[in-house]
Amino acid sequence: MRVEETQAAAEYVLGHEDRELQRLMLQVQMYAPLTESVLRGAGIKPGMRVLDVGCGVGDVSLLAAELVGPTGEVVGVDREARVLAGAQRRAREQGLSQVRFHQSSLESLPVEAPFDAIVSRLVLMFQPDPVSFVRRMAEHLRPGGVMALQELELAAMGMSHPKLPLFARIWSWMLPTCERVGIKVHMGLELVSTLRRAGLVVDDGVVGGRLGVTPDADPTQALVETVRTLLPHMERLGVALAMEVDIDTLAARLTAELRANNGVLMPSVMVGVWGHRPGPV
Ligand SMILES: C[S@@+](CC[C@H](N)C(=O)[O-])C[C@H]1O[C@@H](n2cnc3c(N)ncnc32)[C@H](O)[C@@H]1O
Repeated sequence: MRVEETQAAAEYVLGHEDRELQRLMLQVQMYAPLTESVLRGAGIKPGMRVLDVGCGVGDVSLLAAELVGPTGEVVGVDREARVLAGAQRRAREQGLSQVRFHQSSLESLPVEAPFDAIVSRLVLMFQPDPVSFVRRMAEHLRPGGVMALQELELAAMGMSHPKLPLFARIWSWMLPTCERVGIKVHMGLELVSTLRRAGLVVDDGVVGGRLGVTPDADPTQALVETVRTLLPHMERLGVALAMEVDIDTLAARLTAELRANNGVLMPSVMVGVWGHRPGPV
């Protein structure tokens, strides 16, 4: 399949099956500290009204809800009902009544009372036209309001020390597959230009990642689950054979390689950029 045929495929390539929801929960734990620092850097504070676009299982919404406190409000929107049930359950468990979730695509979300801040994580990389998507998000932002976005720079991922052959191999499968199914592998570093082209003023940005040395940021599990999800595409595109991937032993092999080499790897490179909507406040 060529890229132009596959923009739509990127929309559902990672799906919302149970296993995929588990993968989302794994990445949620891994990225929480990075996301929190971006939200704080962007100035999310008590009393604000925040919209989280493509909220998934609600991680960013819940972090924002902690920051806006009981006097603020967070609305998480996602077009998939299945992910929202998990998000709602987590909000209840954490006693965060200032957050609510709403099923809608961004495209069909009515523009009502504008928000003080819009946040979105790992959504733009799946959009066929990220600039239009950001423009559309900005319609929900008050003038002077802040937009904080976080996306992976997939093209910079896959680095380890020392060089680990299996880990490098996995990335040699991952990158071309992501690219060919229409996922934006440079979305992290394209955030600055995307925000500017959408008419926002860029204020600042950070690059971050976890080294994967604690159980909550286990780099092998999250990566292997992503490979599992993409495996049918890898095979169909001729990028890798199921036999060589051997998905059920991949996590154990990767862990063994890491231990045997006393290695450290960069499982993700996340870019966070924030800016504001110009105009009279
Ligand atoms: C990779 S998940 C990220 C979830 C969450 N933001 C996080 O970081 O954990 C992408 C989510 O964006 C949602 N999404 C994609 N395009 C959307 C759109 N046009 N409108 C609303 N939600 C969308 C998907 O349904 C999916 O739940």
